[in-house]
Amino acid sequence: MASPRWKIAIEKALSQYKNQNAMQVATLDFSSSLGTIPRARSQIFRDWLESPQNPSLPLLLSSTDIRTPKVSQLTASSKAEVVWWIEGTVQQFRIIADIYLVPQPTHALHAHFLDVLSKSEHGTGLALFKEEDWEARRVALFKTMSAHMKASWCRPTPGSPLKGGQEEAKKWPECVDKPDPDAGKEKYEEAKRNWEMALGNFALMIIDPIEVDFVDLSSPPDKRTLFTKISGGEGVQWEETELVP
Ligand SMILES: Cc1cc2nc3c(=O)[nH]c(=O)nc-3n(C[C@H](O)[C@H](O)[C@H](O)COP(=O)(O)O)c2cc1C
Repeated sequence: MASPRWKIAIEKALSQYKNQNAMQVATLDFSSSLGTIPRARSQIFRDWLESPQNPSLPLLLSSTDIRTPKVSQLTASSKAEVVWWIEGTVQQFRIIADIYLVPQPTHALHAHFLDVLSKSEHGTGLALFKEEDWEARRVALFKTMSAHMKASWCRPTPGSPLKGGQEEAKKWPECVDKPDPDAGKEKYEEAKRNWEMALGNFALMIIDPIEVDFVDLSSPPDKRTLFTKISGGEGVQWEETELVP
């Protein structure tokens, strides 16, 4: 079993254009006063997670703040669409996926994640990671974030009204670094509080692809390929169908 061709194409594109890592993630909001409406936002692709036993079902990882509206939307329905335009290679990837969130273990949604994980079915990427130490993954990803990014999880709830205006915002920490015991008691305690708050709001986002629509405009003729999962003797494979672009 090999990595799917769509994944190899994304990896190749990112190896050339590593900064073109912003995807758009669309979810459904069932609780809007406007009725059921789609919501889309940009997110940074952080990493792949691929099972050595079965590289054909890779997961994509991103991160978010567990307090953001996308979290309740994805808890109501894990179905979402990711669209990723990589301008450097002139390629678009549209990925229908289940998206799961891993918050800190004491958060109420952590038990929800463990429940979803235990029920994940054969043929999904998630089911290959039932034994994974997801908390270790979450903390490891958090540690790779810049001090500036870590500080963003110490702000009040994203999307809530900014009380006190920009003057208030100036009081928020700009950087959150690992607490240094040699920095003096007060500084250490403050750094520790900030670190714990940021890590507490930080959630790992797992994107488990179901279907991938790959448009390649890099050289004529334009090409469009739909990748769908099929189960066969050798397990789950990606079937490729050429589409009119
Ligand atoms: C280029 C770019 C990258 C972003 N990356 C992320 C990200 O990786 N995770 C995230 O939660 N928000 C990210 N954001 C902010 C989101 O787009 C969004 O505004 C925020 O998460 C609130 O989303 P929600 O209200 O739809 O839940 C990014 C914004 C931009 C402009």
